[in-house]
Amino acid sequence: MTASAPPPHARPPETPLTMDAVQADVLVIGAGAAGMMCAIEAAKRGRRVLVIDHAARPGEKIRISGGGRCNFTNVNAAPKNYLSQNPSFCISALRRYGWRNFVRLVDEAGVAWHEKTLGQLFCDGSATQIVDLLTGRLRQHGARLMLATAASDIRHTADGFTVRLSPAAKVAGKAAQGGGAASGSAAPVQFSCASLVIASGGKSIPKMGATGFAFEVAAQFGLNVIAPRPGLVPFTLAPEQLAMLAPLAGVAVDAVVSHTSPAGRKTSFAEALLFTHRGLSGPAILQISSYWREGDAITLSLAPGVDVFAALKAARAANGRQAPQTALAEFLPRRLAQAIVEMQPGPERLADCSDKHLRALDAAVNAWSIRPNGTEGYRTAEVMLGGVDTSELDQKTMAVKAVPGLYFIGEAVDVTGWLGGYNFQWAWASGWCAGQAA
Ligand code: FDA
Repeated sequence: MTASAPPPHARPPETPLTMDAVQADVLVIGAGAAGMMCAIEAAKRGRRVLVIDHAARPGEKIRISGGGRCNFTNVNAAPKNYLSQNPSFCISALRRYGWRNFVRLVDEAGVAWHEKTLGQLFCDGSATQIVDLLTGRLRQHGARLMLATAASDIRHTADGFTVRLSPAAKVAGKAAQGGGAASGSAAPVQFSCASLVIASGGKSIPKMGATGFAFEVAAQFGLNVIAPRPGLVPFTLAPEQLAMLAPLAGVAVDAVVSHTSPAGRKTSFAEALLFTHRGLSGPAILQISSYWREGDAITLSLAPGVDVFAALKAARAANGRQAPQTALAEFLPRRLAQAIVEMQPGPERLADCSDKHLRALDAAVNAWSIRPNGTEGYRTAEVMLGGVDTSELDQKTMAVKAVPGLYFIGEAVDVTGWLGGYNFQWAWASGWCAGQAA
């Protein structure tokens, strides 16, 4: 929902910011995964905490994550699952707050969960259980949550920071229903805090309230930012490629998708691949998209583990009258087998196919090099790569080294996980670390 004023039920009649409440020890900007975790931990330490968000509800990305069941962590979460200019930066936080810590929180709240493939942990029920868990903890420890509220005019003072809080001009998402946690700032106030935590996430899915706010704050304080770009995002293809692959829209296969960096470093993911009417999607594609750069090719293996040349040779010997696409359909979806044969035109019967042609078919199946012409961008990207340069931050606390009291956590930081619960694990871990210090 987009509105010119905050929804009325996100603003209880009482003035939410009274004179004694225009200051706190900790102000967290962003009530997402990282921000709420940080606020809970800081409040547990007895800090007076206010969390604000310009959206009408907290944790909107949690709510829609994992197909509505929130893939909240991964039992394999380790630094190798994260992309960053400094791959060691996340080691400390992931060690201090690992996946087991979050599972303990989920268990304490009585939220049922299960392990899917590749170590991914999902709620049995709705992802809103995770949002409720976090807002419940905020309440339990006395942290305040103020929605439909925008932050601006951040000033560094001798005692910390002042921030202007005002009703958000545009409010993304539906209004909070009950729960008592929501309130909006009725009129602009000058808010003071000793610690300021920027937990405003990345730029992906602007429709849901994502902004580049963290970068504005980084720029204000002269902090370096690693150029942001969309990650975990479907590829688009050039019109001529699309025309050729149009009949495949909706076809899915278990594939291995690879990318080789200019430095020769090969990265591969073995997961599902989906042909779409715009290009390529599915988990294997989303994963490799985080490694891909404009102009790069990727390699698709559509029947991994199958020696296609040997299989076609055997089929030729057993039944030479068979069409190549029929033999390929033994291990590929029929429509895909047909498209492969159209891409590598040759004799209609296997008996007439040379070894050279069978090898070309083999390469088209298991070493298909394709050059996407772009990605779907932030509109559909699950994450943003890049962010505040980790060299600006203390790896134990997420504090800005040069600005005491200022913290950046979650997706705003140049640490981005693979698909599969790794990004929430980073949000929990970085939020937890900042919560011990802010
Ligand atoms: P997050 O984006 O969660 O929170 C930032 C908050 O700041 C938002 O509430 C926003 O409204 C607020 N904000 C932004 N600008 C502001 C401003 N100027 N003023 C005030 N508030 C502001 N990951 C995973 O591990 N498992 C999964 O299943 C999924 N699934 C998934 C599905 C989809 C569709 C998407 C888009 C993403 C995922 N992810 C995921 C990724 C995951 O959602 C993401 O990495 C985390 O939510 C990041 O947490 P943060 O708290 O850093 O940002």
